Order: sequence, then C-alpha cells, then structure tokens
Amino acid sequence: MIIIKNKFDIKKMIEVGKLTANVLDMIKKYIVPGINTNEINDICQDYIVKKQKLISACLGYKGYPKSTCISVNDVVCHGIPNKKTILKKGDILNIDISLIKDGYFGDSSKMFIVEKCSNIAKKLCQITLKSLYSAIKIIKPGIRIGKIGKVIEKIAKKNRFSVVREYCGHGIGKNFHEKPYILHYKSKNKGIYLKEGMIFTIEPMINVGKRNIFCDKDKWTVRTKDKSLSAQYEHTILVTKNGYKVLTLRKNEKIK
Ligand code: MF3
Ligand code: CO
Repeated sequence: MIIIKNKFDIKKMIEVGKLTANVLDMIKKYIVPGINTNEINDICQDYIVKKQKLISACLGYKGYPKSTCISVNDVVCHGIPNKKTILKKGDILNIDISLIKDGYFGDSSKMFIVEKCSNIAKKLCQITLKSLYSAIKIIKPGIRIGKIGKVIEKIAKKNRFSVVREYCGHGIGKNFHEKPYILHYKSKNKGIYLKEGMIFTIEPMINVGKRNIFCDKDKWTVRTKDKSLSAQYEHTILVTKNGYKVLTLRKNEKIK
C-alpha cells in the first residue's frame, strides 16, 4: 500500500524537508583539507540537536552508530564517520542527512568537493546531479515510476558511467522508508502510476567504473568493487497536481 499524504502531512514534510536542506547548507564551509569525517558528523549532530532541536533519523537506525552518513571517494553510501578518514585536497564526498520532526522524516544528500578535484571526479558529480534533476523534472501524476530509472540510467550510460542497483529511492513520511521503492535503472516492470500526494526520494548512486559493490566488515560502508569513484545526490519529492515540489531544495538551488 502506498500512503497518499494529506494536507497536514504535506505541511509537516515541507517543514522537515527544509530543515534537512539547511544542514547541508550549514556544513559546506567546514569541508576543508585536514578535517576528519567524525568532526563533520559532530558539527551536524550539534546543529541538529542544539539549533534545530531535532533528532537524526540515522542515529540508532538498525544499529547505525552515527548521525550522518559520509561517503568519501570509492565509498558508495553509508560511510560511517570516523577519525581516521581525514579529508585531503581532491577528495569527493557525499553527506547524507535524515531528520525527524514531529514524527515526519526528511532525507537528502549531496556531494562536496575538497578544494579542487580531478576532471573525472568533477564530471561524475555533475552527471550524477544532472541525472537526479532530469528524473525530478519528469515527475507528475500519471507517469509510471519506472520512467525515473530509465532517465537516470540513460544519462549515466551516455557518459560511460554505471548505476548502482542494490539501493533505491523510497517513499517517506511517518516512516523513514516505505512504498513506493524507486529503481535508478531501467527495468522490465514499468511500475505504478504516480499520484498527487505521493512523497518519495530519488537518490541515484553512480560509479566511474563498474556498478559492482561490496559491503565492508563494519556491515555498513558500501564500496565500489573496482575502487572507482562513486557519487550520489538525494532529494525528497512531493508529487503535486501538475508536477512536483522538491521538499529538500537548498538555498540558491534551482532544478536546472
Ligand atoms: N539516508 C539513507 C537513505 O537515503 C539511509 C541511511 S540509513 C543509515 O535512505 F542508517 F545508514 F543512516
Ligand atoms: Co533515502
């Protein structure tokens, strides 16, 4: 069953979405060479708890030990912040923020570049963002959910990148993860038809090399098998009467 959100739900999802975006705006200035990912996590945690008076949805989720996921270079997703991962010039990293406000969840992530990175790393980030934006732009009632993955995969393939298949976007509301689940690649099943009032994330993970991944012995950190770079962007999106509303849009961000 897919939960269609009512007016009150939507109001709450707009609130938590905005606050989730604010954390990603806040953290930008701290992404410099020499900082470790545990310090970045602690700055986010402090901001979420002390300034926003909220709680992270990640902390304690299925035993996850930190408030954020920070995935550097070949880490695809769910990187556990730690003191040993010290950022250096040229690194690329994803910071994934999930918040709970009044029982409603917000979920968003973006890439950060430490000073200046290689051309290929920059291209990977640009193409991953482009794939998310292109998928968002087709959202409206009546389209089939399978179209989202088709759009994403087409852009990745055109640039000779690959799309990770093991993780998908998800419905979100009073649950962190609920139906519908959204594949980021083309599949035979074209899926359900979108309806006004659905809210879900789109969060493509794209690799420079092959799509294959493995999970570390810490049971969380997911890496590319071939050690190639991986990027991810994520937004929480509401299906509106005529199109979409990006609930986690950041200040100065425009869907181009
Ligand atoms: N934020 C992730 C998502 O996009 C989930 C992270 S779960 C955690 O669904 F436990 F690793 F934080
Ligand atoms: Co998500």
